[in-house]
Amino acid sequence: CGIIAARVADDATPFLLDGLGRMEYRGYDSVGIAVRSAAGRIETVRSVARVDDLRALAATAPAADAVTGVGIAHTRWATRGTVREENAHPHADCSRRISVVHNGTIENADRLRTTLERQGHVFRSDVDSEVIGHLVERALRVDPDLMLAVQIAVAQLEGSWALVVLDARDGRMVAAADGSPLVAARSTRGDFVASDVGTIAEWCETFVPLRDGDVVELGEAWSWSSEGIAVPVPFPTASPFAQTAVDLGAHPDHMAKEIDEQPGVVADVLARVRHRTADGSTWVGLGLPPFDRLAVVACGTSLHAGQVIANTVRSLGGVPTDTVVASEVEHVVLGPGTLVLAISQSGETADVLRALDRLDDRHPVLALTNHVHSSLARRADAVLDCHAGPEVGVAATKSFTAQVVVGVTAVVSALVASGRLEPSRAVALVDDLARLPERMAAAAVVAADRVPLLAATVRDAPGFLFLGRGPGLPYAAEGALKVKELSYRWAEASPAGELKHGPLALVDDGTPVVVVDHGDPRLQSAIAEVRARGGFVVTIGGAGSDVPAVARPADATDLAWGRSVAPWGPIEAVVPLQMLARELALQLGCDVDKPHDRARSVTVR
Ligand code: G6P
Repeated sequence: CGIIAARVADDATPFLLDGLGRMEYRGYDSVGIAVRSAAGRIETVRSVARVDDLRALAATAPAADAVTGVGIAHTRWATRGTVREENAHPHADCSRRISVVHNGTIENADRLRTTLERQGHVFRSDVDSEVIGHLVERALRVDPDLMLAVQIAVAQLEGSWALVVLDARDGRMVAAADGSPLVAARSTRGDFVASDVGTIAEWCETFVPLRDGDVVELGEAWSWSSEGIAVPVPFPTASPFAQTAVDLGAHPDHMAKEIDEQPGVVADVLARVRHRTADGSTWVGLGLPPFDRLAVVACGTSLHAGQVIANTVRSLGGVPTDTVVASEVEHVVLGPGTLVLAISQSGETADVLRALDRLDDRHPVLALTNHVHSSLARRADAVLDCHAGPEVGVAATKSFTAQVVVGVTAVVSALVASGRLEPSRAVALVDDLARLPERMAAAAVVAADRVPLLAATVRDAPGFLFLGRGPGLPYAAEGALKVKELSYRWAEASPAGELKHGPLALVDDGTPVVVVDHGDPRLQSAIAEVRARGGFVVTIGGAGSDVPAVARPADATDLAWGRSVAPWGPIEAVVPLQMLARELALQLGCDVDKPHDRARSVTVR
């Protein structure tokens, strides 16, 4: 779901429609916009179609009178209430004086609705959000001040919300947040409220994130309250998302752009964390709280990045480490001295936030996120910023790489600080990581040459198998996830050693089997088994592979970690895996930036 609200000098509609377009990446199944008319009415247009359809509808909707510069808009992903126009936001009160957009979940909505209905309020939808407009309407009957009415309304809510309320009568606009992200911003163009900074980056160079319990009235002078108490307007923060960063440039799509940006992202991350010591060696400068055990909590791609980080901690430091699927957290027992590493590029994934609520709060939580103003960052005891820049494509690419590089450099540093890792070994490892940008760029060149033909060969296959071993396994899992997300094909990742215990039964003539080959000779027997059944093997590995994209032992003779690659595995292999999934999706006619049924961040559970 996404919110955009504008208070500008002229017509608010183009700002709201542009904002909705920029939030499409968050995933949605319906959209709506409400703008105040000069006569003090609210003109609402809603649709279960795409933003472009809403744009066309808004252009043709008969305008009763001129619209003003005050309006709100929303993209909805259905959780409570089916996908239908009446359930799309904005929602109104009985008199249609109040219009509301809301993200989050109102847990006591049923109870509130029953009471309101008993008091004569008539509801028009099945969604929890509608109660908000009615609560504001009820409060306004007692005191005409909208700011106060919203404070009274939110005090009755249980759950999570980011919301904006618009009053048709005088065009006043109030925003509130608790447990869902919302930012307010002011520029020469006017005042804006949005779910994320990227949506309003074109108009605003600074913004103020709302904290839980904040209620804000926009207007000539903003008034700001926190937990019901008037506070000074917080000092604005510089926007991290320059508009140029979200523009496509010469790239055909955002996914292609973000894949290409990975070497630069890695170089940028390393420049932030590495510095030279007095004796000339390179060192990493990230501090983590001390820990005896680590529990990584995440979902999807972030979980795969977490597996890479966990492998690194285990193999370099011998530290007991769990990787926990966030939605399965109740089955986890955390030992004393456990540091919880919660990874989420968006910082808004509901499963991750809920997992933290369920964990024993004696364990410190470190967030690894690309959004340092997110709910996760606010919730954590400390935050590691991924510095990946805005990621617009729904399928995570550069944020995965950034999570891996920030995460492994942080744990290497922590292992040295706790005496579990020799400083000289750490320096050698991190120095090797410094060659990753170059390796990723080289991998992209090779993949650009090989991947289109490979994709054409396998595109009609109904399903795919991805194999890896040890440090290569998270990359195989990530390759499979990318194919599922973008091409809607079955793709299963399996440890190569497990092949004979089941997955091999899926392999017959032409079954595509993608092997992340980081140089472990034991992978060869799995490859032979697949070939013996007629499977079509695609190896992503060193020289001689179908896609030679992985730095092999020959490149690593000076390092102490043995015959294979670094403990974090062949990070560069993710580039051809991402490119293969993208190419496959394009050849199948899929939209790689906005796959259906996928959202950039799943803020519902
Ligand atoms: C959704 C996305 C996945 C993503 C996962 C975790 O399911 O479709 O691509 O990996 O959420 O997102 P996060 O923002 O927590 O990293």
